[in-house]
Amino acid sequence: MESIDFAALEEYIYENRLIGEKSVHGLSHWHQVEFNALLLAKKTHADETVLRLFALFHDSRRIHDGYDEEHGPRGAELAVQLRGKLFDLDEERFQKLVKACQMHTVLPFSGDPTIDTCFDADRLDLGRVYVVPDPQKMATDFGKKLASKLQNVPVEKHREWLRTQSFIIFPT
Ligand SMILES: [Fe+2]
Ligand SMILES: [Fe+2]
Repeated sequence: MESIDFAALEEYIYENRLIGEKSVHGLSHWHQVEFNALLLAKKTHADETVLRLFALFHDSRRIHDGYDEEHGPRGAELAVQLRGKLFDLDEERFQKLVKACQMHTVLPFSGDPTIDTCFDADRLDLGRVYVVPDPQKMATDFGKKLASKLQNVPVEKHREWLRTQSFIIFPT
């Protein structure tokens, strides 16, 4: 398995971002997407390396917080540029990362557990912009289940509630 220096990668991507520090698509969103993805992966058995890379790259090239149609493909392009320089990944998994970044705003469901886990990890953080995730629009069964439960949680508490789930569902 590749060893990736995620801290160094995150620092580079963050330093080279195109949006401001307070963006709703900034670092706290990237971190929450990573958390959501790893929570989902306990049931979806997605590839954790691809998930963590998706969290860093998917919104990395946004130019503003509004409707920025091409930000997914631009995030994928940054992954292409940094592959072999700041991280490495075999071709099959790399293509999943690329597709997940490219399609995260346009494709509801891919059929691939890793890509679908990426999609749901992002969608489960909609509460930060006061949108309640729609269970019907989730790509994985576990994502649908979590989104259903979120219907009863105040939107500003969604992140906090998701953080409790790893203890409730998977006690140590
Ligand atoms: Fe995005
Ligand atoms: Fe996102």
